Amino acid sequence: MDLTPEQLHGACRRVVAIVNGKGGVLKTTTAANLAGQAADAGHNVLLVDLDPQANLSEDLGITQAGMGDDAGAPLFDAIARNRELVPSHPQIRPRLDLVGADPANTKALIAWVRAHVGQPGGQLALARAIAPIAPRYGLVVLDLPPGEEELRRIALAAARYLLIPTQADISSLKGMRLIAQQFGEARHVNPELQLLGILLVLVGESATAIRKDVRNTIATDFGTAEPMFRTVIRHALSPAESARKRGLLAHELETFVPSRAETFERLRQRAAGATVERAVSSTAKKVAADWAGLTEEALIRIAEREAAERAEQ
Ligand SMILES: Nc1ncnc2c1ncn2[C@@H]1O[C@H](COP(=O)(O)OP(=O)(O)OP(=O)(O)O)[C@@H](O)[C@H]1O
Ligand SMILES: [Mg+2]
Repeated sequence: MDLTPEQLHGACRRVVAIVNGKGGVLKTTTAANLAGQAADAGHNVLLVDLDPQANLSEDLGITQAGMGDDAGAPLFDAIARNRELVPSHPQIRPRLDLVGADPANTKALIAWVRAHVGQPGGQLALARAIAPIAPRYGLVVLDLPPGEEELRRIALAAARYLLIPTQADISSLKGMRLIAQQFGEARHVNPELQLLGILLVLVGESATAIRKDVRNTIATDFGTAEPMFRTVIRHALSPAESARKRGLLAHELETFVPSRAETFERLRQRAAGATVERAVSSTAKKVAADWAGLTEEALIRIAEREAAERAEQ
C-alpha cells in the first residue's frame, strides 16, 4: 500500500541529513560519530551512505574487500525497484546498521533520480525507501556527497532535520547560504523539514572572535542564530588520520591513547633504538568529547522539538 506524503514524513520523523555543498567540512565524520555515539548511548541507529566515495564505510572499518562492488545495491533496489531496504552491513557496531554505497550503484541511482525527480512524487523516492524501516530506529543519519544536487533534493525531501557542518571562513558561509535557499525549496515537498543545527568544525584555538561573525551571518541567512550548536569540533589532524586509518570512531580511538607509563616505556624503547609505531595522540580524547557533546545536544534538541509538537496537538 502506498503511503501518503504525511505518512511518509511521519515514519521519517527521526531522519537527520548531514548536508553542505562544500567538500571536506566533516560531513562524513559527523555522520559516523553522531551515529556511533548515539548507538553507544543505547539508541538503535541506521546510517545511510549516499556518497559514491563511500568514506562512511571506511570510517567504520569496512575495508574495500568487505564493502563489495554492490554495497549500494540495496538502496538502488529500494528506490528504483521498490524492494524492501535491507542494510548492507547490519550491526556494524552494537545497535548500528549501515546502508552502504559504492560508485556503480550510486551512479545508477543518480541517473534514476535525475530522470524521476521532476515527476509527481519523484522527490519523495528516498522517503518511500526509508519509511518502512525508519520506525525501527531511534535515529536515521544520511551522509551526502558535496555535489550531486539530485541526491540532496531527495535527502531533504525525506529528512525531518538538517544538520549543517561548516567551517567559519567566508567561502563556507557562502556555501551555507545556498543550503539555506535549498532548505526553503525543500519545504514545499517536505513541510516538516527543520534545521536541527549548524555545527562549527575544524575550529582552531583562537577562534572566539570569528564565532561572533559566524553567528551574525547565520542569523541573517536563517532568520535566527539559535540553531548553532554550542559544541564546536576542534581541528585535530593526527587523531582524525588515526581514526580513518584504523576504521575507528573518535570515542573508540580514545582507548588507544597510551597511559603515562606506556608513554615512558615507548620512549625508553625508542631511545634503545627500537622502531615504535606512532602512538594515538592524547588529543583524541578531546575530539571524542567534542563529538559526545554534539550527540548529546542533537538528541536533546530532537527530544525537545518532539515534546513541543506533542504539546501543540
Ligand atoms: N577534527 C578534525 N580535525 C582535522 N581533520 C579532521 C578532523 N576530523 C576529520 N578530519 C579529516 O578531514 C577530512 C574531511 O573529513 P570528511 O571526509 O568527514 O569530510 P566530508 O565533508 O565528508 O568530505 P566530502 O565532501 O569529500 O564528503 C578527512 O580526511 C578527515 O580525516
Ligand atoms: Mg563525505
